[in-house]
Amino acid sequence: MPAFCELIEKLSAERNLTDEELKALLEREGPDDALFEAADRRRREIYGDEVYIRGLIEFTNYCRNNCYYCGIRRDNRSAERYRLTPEQILFCCEEGYRLGFRTFVLQGGEDPYFTDERVCAIVSEIRARFPDCAITLSIGEKSRESYQAFFDAGANRYLLRHETASEQHYGKLHPAELSLANRKRCLFDLKEIGYQVGSGFMVGSPYQTTDCLIEDLRFLQQLQPDMIGIGPYITHRETPFASFPSGSVELTLRLLAILRLMFPYALLPATTALGTLHPQGRELGMKAGANVVMPNLSPTDVRKLYDLYDNKICTGEESAQCRGCLEQRVRSAGYRIVTAVGNARREQP
Ligand code: 5AD
Ligand code: FES
Repeated sequence: MPAFCELIEKLSAERNLTDEELKALLEREGPDDALFEAADRRRREIYGDEVYIRGLIEFTNYCRNNCYYCGIRRDNRSAERYRLTPEQILFCCEEGYRLGFRTFVLQGGEDPYFTDERVCAIVSEIRARFPDCAITLSIGEKSRESYQAFFDAGANRYLLRHETASEQHYGKLHPAELSLANRKRCLFDLKEIGYQVGSGFMVGSPYQTTDCLIEDLRFLQQLQPDMIGIGPYITHRETPFASFPSGSVELTLRLLAILRLMFPYALLPATTALGTLHPQGRELGMKAGANVVMPNLSPTDVRKLYDLYDNKICTGEESAQCRGCLEQRVRSAGYRIVTAVGNARREQP
């Protein structure tokens, strides 16, 4: 097995490693500074010091699904449910626009109340009022026809993490009615329709092994998404996984750096989950290769209710406070927020 620095060099040059080499890198003990430096160099080559911001609007926490890890699963009877009205959603966009956001991410549980018709009406209204903005949806698994309808209404990006690319592991995180096959079908449909697609997975979720992570990387190589969102799994007290430990910040950072070297052009968010497990989690994420932050634009009174995992940060702050806070954090990490739409860069053909 090549030494640590040889693995880094090979990964940088070839954007790939064998399964055995990935395993060695993922399971290695010892500091990752050399890996982070290589990832930061690559990110600066392609994106400079730019960090893109996406305004996250969590518009419903009703969900028909029952994923074992998630705090807003349908069987969590103690979750207090809410839905934003179209007017509230538009108000969040207006506020976001004033704060410099040019991408809005509408995220929610799989809420049957938001029929295709209702989603399309909201998307069309945002599209009409903010023609210079990207509209991102993150509302789960739908039919190809629904995805097409949202796209025709003006949505241009879609976030749907695959969560785990291992068939067996998928079955341990989800009830039988959900399947990895359908999740993948959704992602390929979204790409074919013409969306810019974001996928990703949780790090350190219950039953995850190094082999699962290697399968995640292989699946991403197949999908070639524009964005890859990863964050540590964080325990939620009111789920079947309440007694499992949270994932680790260290492994998440290591994977971010590996992703930057494998997918030099990808948009990689420094996630809220990373910021929840470590006070400087997002700054560390950026130094390991992340180049996107997604501050919350949801109304302050519902933020605590979008309770995917315990101790989620930014639930007491106003949108402007999160915007300002991140400005400082990004600067302190040595980067710069840019308020452009921020498409993923492409390789010169
Ligand atoms: N810990 C960390 N991330 C979680 N998500 C859901 N539940 C948890 C949890 N307990 C992530 C999933 C989902 C995204 C919106 O939040 O990856 O795709
Ligand atoms: Fe929300 Fe820091 S980003 S308070």
